[in-house]
Amino acid sequence: MSRTRCDRTPAWGDLQAAFAATGRVFDLRSAFDSDAGRFERFSLSAPHVFADLSKNLIDDTTHGLLLALARQCGVAQHRDAMFAGAVINHSEQRQVLHTLLRHPAQGLETTGGSAPQNLAAELAQVHATLDAMLAYAEAVRQDSAITDVVNIGIGGSDLGPQMAVLALDGFTAPGRRFHFVSNVDGHELDAVLQRLQAPSTLFLIASKTFTTLETMTNAASAKAWFAAQGGTDTARHFAALTTNVAAAQEFGIRTTFGFWDWVGGRYSIWSAIGLPLAIAIGAQGFRDFLAGAHAMDQHFRLAELEHNLPVRLGLLDVWYRNFHGFASRSIAPYHSALRRLPAYLQQLELESNGKRVDAAGEALPFATAPVLWGEPGTNGQHAYFQMLHQGTATVPVEFVAVKRPRHALPGHHRLLLANVLAQAQALMLGKADAGGHRHFTGNRPSTMLLLDELSPASLGALIALQEHRVFVSGSLWGINSFDQWGVELGKVLARDAEARLVSGDTAGLDGSTAGLLQRLRAP
Ligand code: F6P
Repeated sequence: MSRTRCDRTPAWGDLQAAFAATGRVFDLRSAFDSDAGRFERFSLSAPHVFADLSKNLIDDTTHGLLLALARQCGVAQHRDAMFAGAVINHSEQRQVLHTLLRHPAQGLETTGGSAPQNLAAELAQVHATLDAMLAYAEAVRQDSAITDVVNIGIGGSDLGPQMAVLALDGFTAPGRRFHFVSNVDGHELDAVLQRLQAPSTLFLIASKTFTTLETMTNAASAKAWFAAQGGTDTARHFAALTTNVAAAQEFGIRTTFGFWDWVGGRYSIWSAIGLPLAIAIGAQGFRDFLAGAHAMDQHFRLAELEHNLPVRLGLLDVWYRNFHGFASRSIAPYHSALRRLPAYLQQLELESNGKRVDAAGEALPFATAPVLWGEPGTNGQHAYFQMLHQGTATVPVEFVAVKRPRHALPGHHRLLLANVLAQAQALMLGKADAGGHRHFTGNRPSTMLLLDELSPASLGALIALQEHRVFVSGSLWGINSFDQWGVELGKVLARDAEARLVSGDTAGLDGSTAGLLQRLRAP
């Protein structure tokens, strides 16, 4: 597989020239005025997702150059290598095969990448585990004595299932509550435990490694609480979702669902980590979720770069970050059930692409992942949209809108859709006013992702789309999107700090940490 870093391609220089010549002064309003076909030409359909890219700061020249950039960087070959099971996570010497988790049991294609491997054995394991996990999920659903399911996990072992359970609330059978405990802050677990009864609670201990401090601390406290409540049947009330089955068993959990080191934590919702979702929406719902993601995988694998939505989004991300210099992107889901989507995407994109060196360890001379942030519409409009419309920084906005609601309240959905249309319009069109305070510059870019409905399949496709766009920008930047060494240092220092909080030893500490530690220990 030959991979070339974006800044070492001819297209990079051509893009710099194009940005200096026309990109910098590109005006969306003039672009629409002079091109009646702009909407059709800059929008495309992918499985379950229609994307309007026409309100972005691109013209035919930059569009063509960005596609040339993708070709010259070898994005397609890198993608094929991932699907084929090559060890593309070099710093951890791992394959990256989360797409296998949503592949049907039969019909494994060889993608023709640089390291095609026979993945049939892995696929068979995936389906054996999936079948077992879904059978368990169905058994829990039939068990009316279990009213509360508590997922204890953090990062990828929390954000994915939590986001998806909320998003698909409309598909969840009534009568069962789902709780997500992630933080080591005891207030979180305590607040949940106060509402539970041991005989009606199922704890899912979700941790890829089964070593994460927060999860192990919360799991131990949950186990102690269960025993203190008189609970004895741990086998019935605890299950573990982990690649480290031995550690889970040592912890005393008998029911375990495994996965594999080739599934990154932030890419693990499709694995056993998805069990809370499977309990919520049922086996068929979970299979539909996987099928939606697989449809997006096929689109990413097979569509020409020009018609390939993850490729188009990843290219835009690089155009904005490295040429326009936009430092953040706002996610605006116009569906309240998607309220945890921004948090989920933060981990997906920032843990993947928040890197300062390339895959060879060389410092990068350009910026990588932008900050991602957002809240559901229309709430965000009454909070920070002021800044989006009139602030000094341009923030590209990614709207997610859903055509059909799942409620029957008259008028609401039309108003919601009117607002998402109006916000994108206002950002682009602006409004001239001589007075200054009421002036809107306009020409502020946005993307609209449109789903017909929010369903297991469309959510699966939407998430897979985001995974792949992160792959594309990471690939262009020449980085390893699949490790996360940046989270390690803080974990090590926290262990040291905890010991010092007990001992009071400040020897060798910087002045600030020593001063704070003493204050925290003072009576
Ligand atoms: O600290 C970061 C991280 O390793 C994430 O990548 C991961 O999703 C999270 O911690 C939780 O890890 P685990 O599932 O092993 O408990």
